[in-house]
Amino acid sequence: MENKRWYKDMVFYQIWPRSFKDGNGDGMGDLWGVLEKLDYIKSLGCDGVWFSPIYPSPGADCGYDIADYIDIAPEFGGMEAFKAVLEGVHDRGMKLVMDLVVNHTSDEHEWFQKSRRRIEPYTDYYIWRPAKQNGKMPNNWQSNFEGPAWEWDEVRGEYYLHLFAVKQPDLNMDNPLVREEVKKIMKFWLDMGVDGFREDVITYISKKKGLPDDHLFPIYKGMPHYNHGPHVHEYLEEFKHDVLDHYDCVTLAEAPLVSPKRALEYIDEENGQIDMMIQFQCQCADCLFTDWLPTKFSLRRLKKAFSDWQYKLEGRSWNVLYLENHDHPRIISRYGSEKFRCESGKTLAVSYLFQKGTPFVYQGQEIGMLNWRPSSPDMYEDVHTKNHYANSNTKHTQEERLRKLWRSSRDSARTPVQWDDSENAGFTTGTPWFYVNENYKKINVAAEEKDPDSLLNFYRKAIALRKSLKVVREGTYKEHFHSSSKLYVYSRECAGQKLLVVCSFADKDIKMKCPRGFDLSNGKLILQSHNGSCDDMLKPYESRVYLWE
Ligand code: GLC
Ligand code: CA
Repeated sequence: MENKRWYKDMVFYQIWPRSFKDGNGDGMGDLWGVLEKLDYIKSLGCDGVWFSPIYPSPGADCGYDIADYIDIAPEFGGMEAFKAVLEGVHDRGMKLVMDLVVNHTSDEHEWFQKSRRRIEPYTDYYIWRPAKQNGKMPNNWQSNFEGPAWEWDEVRGEYYLHLFAVKQPDLNMDNPLVREEVKKIMKFWLDMGVDGFREDVITYISKKKGLPDDHLFPIYKGMPHYNHGPHVHEYLEEFKHDVLDHYDCVTLAEAPLVSPKRALEYIDEENGQIDMMIQFQCQCADCLFTDWLPTKFSLRRLKKAFSDWQYKLEGRSWNVLYLENHDHPRIISRYGSEKFRCESGKTLAVSYLFQKGTPFVYQGQEIGMLNWRPSSPDMYEDVHTKNHYANSNTKHTQEERLRKLWRSSRDSARTPVQWDDSENAGFTTGTPWFYVNENYKKINVAAEEKDPDSLLNFYRKAIALRKSLKVVREGTYKEHFHSSSKLYVYSRECAGQKLLVVCSFADKDIKMKCPRGFDLSNGKLILQSHNGSCDDMLKPYESRVYLWE
C-alpha cells in the first residue's frame, strides 16, 4: 500500500465492551449497546474504534483468553450484531480495529483440547515440555500474572507454558501451522471489512531456543528470553507479506518494555512490519515498570517519556498517543488530582492530544472517571489482581493491602461507563456484571453534556482543533523547560504554523513560562482550561494552547 496515512489523521476510541453499554438488559455491555452509542463516539471527534476482544471466551482474562477466533461471543450479540456495528462504523466514515490475541489462546480452545490429547495436527500447537527430574518445571520463568509460567497437564502428562493466566496457554509460533492459523484469522476479519488489528503482547510470540532459565530479571522472570525473541520480526514480516500488505489496514502492536530504538525495528516506515506501537513508558511516571511497583508521580519522568518517543520517532515512524486503557488505573487518579478533577483532566488531555501521533481515548476518560475503590478485596474480578492479592505480603495490614489494590489494579478502570445519574449510571437496566463507581451521580456523560465547561466538551474542542490544524497533525515537536517539575511546555512547528502548549501540573497558582521566540502578545489563544485566564499566572492545573499563523 503506497502512502498509507489515513490512520495518522485519526483519533481512536477504545471500547472495553463488558463495561461500555448494555443493550439487552442482562447486565453485561454488548454490541447492541455500542450501536446505540456510535453517534456519541463520533460526537467526540473520534473516527476510529478499537474493540478489546469480543470473541467467544470463558472470560478468565475478560476476553483475552479466546476460545474461537472467527466468531463473536453470543453475550456480545454474535456475528449479526457485529456486522451491524461494522456497518454503523463505516456509514459514519469511521474505522474499526479488532484486538488480535495470538500469543496465547484459551485452554478451552479446540486447538488446546486436541493438543493435550496429541491429536494431529495440533500436537505441537502449544509449548509443551516434560517435567525435569523429580517433576520439576522446565525452567524458572514466572507468568506475567503471578506464579510460575508452567502448568502441569494431567491429560497430556506434560507441562505447558503460559506467560499469562493458567487458562491462557502460549501458542507455539515456531510451528508453521500455527502461523497459517494466524493468517487465516487475519484474512477472515479483513475480508469482512475490518480495518486493522491491535496486536496483543505481540513482542512475546517468539521464545528463545531451549527456553533457558533467567538469572537476570527479579520480576517478570523469563522476559529477556521471550520479549523481542529471535524470530519475532521474521514472523511479523510473514504476516505482513502474506496478508496485511494486501489490505488497506492498520496494525498497532502492544509492546511491554520497549525503547524507541527497539520499537523502530518493528515500526520504521522504511522496513518495519507494523505501523504503530503501544509503548509503556508513558505509564511509568508513577511506578517502576508496572503499576504494582508504585512510586510518587513525577512530571519530569512523564515529560521524558513523551519527548523521548516524539524525538526518536520523528521522520521515521508514528506514535500512538495514550494515557489510559483497560490495563491501568484511571489517569486523573494517577497523574492528576481528584480534588482538581476537571482541571487536571483538561491538562492531561492537552498534554498528549497536541503531540504528534495518533491519539487514543479510553472509554470514560473523556468524562474524567476516577479510580474505583471497593470496600473489600473480594469485590475484584481481574485475574491478575486476584493473584497479586493472594501472593501479597500478609505482613501488611488488611487495609494496606486493599489500598494497594485501589492504587494498582486494572479493575480501578474497568467499572461501567457512567452515562447518567439514573440507577446503575444508565449502563444497564438489569443487574450490572460489575460494580458501578459510587461517584456516578456526579460524574456522568449526561451531566457533562449540559455543561459547556465540562471535561467532555473540552475533549471535543481539543480533538476538533487537532483535526483542523495541520501543525498538530504534522508539525515537529520540541519540549521547553524540561527540568521544570510542575510545567509541561512543548511547541509544534510546520511551514506557516506554530503552536505552543502549556500545561501546569501544580495544585496552586504558578508563574507561566514562555520559551524564547514565542511572543504571546501576537499569538492566538485557541484553547484554555480556565476561561478568561490570560495573564502570566497559571491557576492550579491550568492549560493553554497558543497558535501563530
Ligand atoms: C495485554 C492485554 C491485557 C491482557 C494481556 C494478556 O496486555 O492488554 O488486558 O490481560 O495482554 O492477553
Ligand atoms: Ca448485554
